[in-house]
Amino acid sequence: MFEIVEKEIYSPRIKMFKVRAPYVAAKAQPGHFIIIRIHDKGERIPLTIADSDKDAGTVTIVFQEVGKTTYELGAYEVGDTIHDLLGPLGTPYDVEKIGSVVCVSGGVGVAPMYPKAKAHYEIGNKVISLIGAQSKSLFFFTEKISSVSHEIAYSTDDGSYGHHGFVTELLKDVIERGEKIDEVVAIGPLPMMRAVCEVTRPYEIKTIVSLNPIMVDGTGMCGSCRVTVGGETKFSCVDGPAFDGHLVDFAELIERQRRFLTEERSAMEHFHGKGGTCGCHKK
Ligand code: FES
Repeated sequence: MFEIVEKEIYSPRIKMFKVRAPYVAAKAQPGHFIIIRIHDKGERIPLTIADSDKDAGTVTIVFQEVGKTTYELGAYEVGDTIHDLLGPLGTPYDVEKIGSVVCVSGGVGVAPMYPKAKAHYEIGNKVISLIGAQSKSLFFFTEKISSVSHEIAYSTDDGSYGHHGFVTELLKDVIERGEKIDEVVAIGPLPMMRAVCEVTRPYEIKTIVSLNPIMVDGTGMCGSCRVTVGGETKFSCVDGPAFDGHLVDFAELIERQRRFLTEERSAMEHFHGKGGTCGCHKK
């Protein structure tokens, strides 16, 4: 059992937990993720580690309530426990001294971006962070990201903060002002990461995306998380989740993500029909 020791509500549907998991915290590196099962009847869901503290023995996760399990998890409070927590999983994101890096985050993607931006900053790379959200109220982690960035800019879909428009437009501006960019890292919804890749492709700027497709076992055995990268089948859980974005078949991936929409809708209806407790909640 893994105890929640801190909870923060960033917006009505975006929440942060610090969870006591000393063995995971001791080994966590940028790009690593965990798979949790919130109770013994729960499904397994992957969550990227947004931060870790070896001394306190905690890992930080940030999630958006989008389906039954994340809604259920969002109702947990400090002192509650998560039944299973497996990790750290995945291949760590490679950080080298390369020069200048643009970190483009969309939505909750800013949370898994933090350890990557921090690693680049600490190794001595110039870090330009671009963060997009639907609206001003949905920004979080801004102080953390700012503390590991040399430059930071925001965009909102509704124009309530920063640039009114897409975060890809900010990226275009940075490229077009002549900034020397050695790598772009993008984390966010699939359409956003695809759009980032299309911006950088004509300039041949190396672009790394972080894929979090449907995962089941998280150890490379079930095949659920397969993605096509450069014409080859890869398993995101063991070969990734970071991949060269210019080689990812996003059209196939977006299609695969829709596979369980009907089941997800039905689980949500069941969950809300039971007053948000779904009959198997926690203890
Ligand atoms: S989650 Fe099963 S192979 Fe990746």
